[in-house]
Amino acid sequence: MLNRTSSGTLTSGDAVAAAGHVEARRRRFPTVESLRSHARRRVPNFAFDFVDGGANDEECARRNLRAFADIELLPRYCIDADTLATDVELFGRRYSAPFGVAPMGSAGMMWPGAEIFLAREAQRRRVPYILATPANASIERIAEFAPDVFWFQLYRFPYDDHAITFDLVKRADAAGAHVLVPTIDSAGKSKRPRDIRNGVKVPFKIGPKTFFQIAASPAWAMALRKTGMLRTENIVPYTQGRATRDTTAQTMQVKARGSHTWDELARLRDRWKRAFVVKGVLHPEDAERLVAIGADGLIVSNHGGRHFDGAPASVDMLPAIVAVAGKRATVMIDSGIRSGLDILRALALGASAAFTGRPFLYGLGALGEPGARYVMDMFADELRTEMKHVGIQSIADAKEITVRHSGAWRVA
Ligand code: FNR
Repeated sequence: MLNRTSSGTLTSGDAVAAAGHVEARRRRFPTVESLRSHARRRVPNFAFDFVDGGANDEECARRNLRAFADIELLPRYCIDADTLATDVELFGRRYSAPFGVAPMGSAGMMWPGAEIFLAREAQRRRVPYILATPANASIERIAEFAPDVFWFQLYRFPYDDHAITFDLVKRADAAGAHVLVPTIDSAGKSKRPRDIRNGVKVPFKIGPKTFFQIAASPAWAMALRKTGMLRTENIVPYTQGRATRDTTAQTMQVKARGSHTWDELARLRDRWKRAFVVKGVLHPEDAERLVAIGADGLIVSNHGGRHFDGAPASVDMLPAIVAVAGKRATVMIDSGIRSGLDILRALALGASAAFTGRPFLYGLGALGEPGARYVMDMFADELRTEMKHVGIQSIADAKEITVRHSGAWRVA
């Protein structure tokens, strides 16, 4: 309850306690890395590793981070920094900031309910939320929580002349997804040593080791009790009426495969009337060809190093892709972004928006549901701070920043 104090201002025990709590949280978790280390302690090890890990020796995942850290921005001073704006327009819609949530399958492993928490927060803040095909929440459900900001990521189901692929597209259209995002960088299954070691496979068996990990993570286990067993929800209609955790995951594993081919992408482009954005682009020639078949946007990405350990850092490919496609398509990026400064680095190199995956799940793992808002607030605050430091007042100005980027690829 609010009371009038002797100084005349309105306050309440609750508000003071809440402010203190927020401040304590900020002190404890000033960075994505601090959230990550706390999540590691609160989430069962097999689930944390599934999200945190990468392919093979995880060199690509590390390379993504190093590549961002090595990019320098040359500041300009004597500019009024009080009037800055972070809003952007993407495919005819206004968003409050140039960052968004990358699609993540089985995000509920890190925190059951993850997809709903992130979608709801993205809607509140008005930033893009990309729902993954193998998510633990369905297209239809996410449309309820994030009607204005949700995009749908599409994997490839080549069976029965792509019956499942096209049904997913139809559902995304009916639910009002603003953008269709076919992912092309999943050419084959990848080798993730942490998952092999932890026995994370389909069907997933809870053995004594995983049982003890869950028992040692009571907050996570409570969150799972609330959601119930995690299923690959978008796949439920394709399991012949036996939609369990195992059958949905198995159907996904057996039926989804490969990289959408050129003619399949052209068919998809034809059917989808709204914005069409291809994710997982690294080669400038692929970028050129995607624009030629009518892609409205590209997400330069190596899947956060989860698929091909030999891939370059996505940010090191960004300038070459902006050079060939930037005038005709909206170029965006993900993989390795961990701060508002990294977002600004990506924008300075020509990206129109930057997506991030794991940081949002570290936030949820560390803080539960409030982690979604916490990480979005952190990125938004950091971005504004760094815009002031570098001397720009709008997101459009970021392209004028002078950048040193020695890792950039030049592809002949
Ligand atoms: C992913 N990613 C992903 N991408 C995609 O197109 N479809 C998917 O289903 C998934 N699933 C998925 C699960 C998990 C647990 C993670 C961490 C990532 C890749 C994701 O969209 C994005 O490209 C990377 O996460 C970006 O790298 P950072 O931000 O995690 O470094």
